[in-house]
Amino acid sequence: MPPWWRSAVFYQVYPRSFADAGGDGVGDLEGLRGRLEHLRWMGVDAIWICPFYRSPMTDFGYDVADYRDVDPLFGTLEDFDRLLTDAHALGLRVIVDWVPNHTSDQHPWFVEARSSRESPKRDWYIWRDGPGTGAGGRPNNWKAAFGGDAWTWDDATAQWYLHLFLPTQPDLNWRNPEVAAAMHDVLRFWLDRGVDGFRIDVVQGLTKDPTFPDDPPGQVAVHAAVNDCDDTHAVLRGLRRLADAYDGDRVLVGEVYLLDTATVAKYVGNGDELHLAFDFTPLYAPWDAGAWRRRIEAAEAELGAVGAWPTWTMSNHDNPRLRTRYGGPEARARAAAVLLLTLRGVPFIYYGDELGLEDAVVPPERVVDPGGRDGCRSPMPWDGAPGHGWPGAEPWLPWSPEPDTRNVEALRADERSILHLHRRILAARRASPALHAGAWLGLEAAPSVLAYERSEGGDRRAVVVNFTSTPADVTLAGDWDVEVDSAGVAEGTAFTGRLAGDQAVILRPAGRGPG
Ligand code: GLC
Repeated sequence: MPPWWRSAVFYQVYPRSFADAGGDGVGDLEGLRGRLEHLRWMGVDAIWICPFYRSPMTDFGYDVADYRDVDPLFGTLEDFDRLLTDAHALGLRVIVDWVPNHTSDQHPWFVEARSSRESPKRDWYIWRDGPGTGAGGRPNNWKAAFGGDAWTWDDATAQWYLHLFLPTQPDLNWRNPEVAAAMHDVLRFWLDRGVDGFRIDVVQGLTKDPTFPDDPPGQVAVHAAVNDCDDTHAVLRGLRRLADAYDGDRVLVGEVYLLDTATVAKYVGNGDELHLAFDFTPLYAPWDAGAWRRRIEAAEAELGAVGAWPTWTMSNHDNPRLRTRYGGPEARARAAAVLLLTLRGVPFIYYGDELGLEDAVVPPERVVDPGGRDGCRSPMPWDGAPGHGWPGAEPWLPWSPEPDTRNVEALRADERSILHLHRRILAARRASPALHAGAWLGLEAAPSVLAYERSEGGDRRAVVVNFTSTPADVTLAGDWDVEVDSAGVAEGTAFTGRLAGDQAVILRPAGRGPG
């Protein structure tokens, strides 16, 4: 039996923005628990919950002050246990976010480490003398991801500490076995509670080049020397051994933010590192048939060469939503959903993309994120009433456009909606071994069209996506019926070979009948 996650569709929940039970305008775990039925109805298999641990929230939870507790903003550990129990009862797996590259500067480990140079935890973080204490005195020229330098001077102990992100997010020293042991205990804490795995933050940065070389001129912003250090693979093998010692195929999904698929592929090791590695090169591909075809072929070849199972992401909490990035009418977002959910590998749906949400327009006075990512983190609109299902205070961020009509309740009542389209694609995918497990083969088509076949044993499907708003014709070998139509009109009819602008279809061999 292949592990469950190979055929799974994941759904990413940004808990601050998903559903609010407490009424304070910030989403919470009880809110999420109350909305699990939406996810089960739509037909996803698993959810990834972004960080909900104790945190000062300078990076909205990616600055963890206690890995073993829920921040009061999100609820309690008991709330988490109830959420997990209910999710499992509905057949939904749950993976949680784990942030191993850095802690919050408020984490007791860092508070202890910075208390003196002799602290037993000093070496849990990365401290360096510089040639000086002023701006020119930094140990090297590394820059932090949200701007500024990657080193901050600690006056009390007169050394620099490293932070790839905010100064409030000091980097842990994974070369210290005590750090690895303490972080392994964190993983066991959640695995023992029953989580189905982890999304691991910033995998590519976990170990640093021990010589701390300057980044080459011109490449400063990409951390050439910090990222993709060979020693990280040993760290990952340790994590994998730990996960594999548990039953139930617990999964490790790593954020490997290296924009080269062949490099990302190394992070599955010889089947002894990550189970799944996010490959973000397609996320940054434009909405263009040729560009996508090249990305898909690269993934097939480069991930295929090492036996890595692909992942597909079109939106997440760090980037503009697909509808906003691709622009155009909702029809284009519908076609994108057909593509995302019919490629070989594991797709990740970002909450709200099933409604066709665009980014919120965030006025300057409501900007809160140091990385400028607020627009894609807008609250999920559940219904058309004032408050849109958020029971108390106004949500922490503005709504995406059209919440009165573009909300879960309204779209669920409309069988032609983009929400129902997601449900039909997921049902088709679940029923078809070709779609959830099969090989991918590109087919000949006009430059504006991407066409491919998926096959597994005797099961076959074809997928055709028109990337432009101009109608297009395709000629496929054999006769096909439309199983899913992004426009929701042609399902159950014979495929004519003509696509409307921004239309995508899933086809099955003609004459087989539904299902
Ligand atoms: C990852 C997260 C991002 C966070 C950063 C620092 O890139 O996805 O949201 O800000 O790590 O933890």
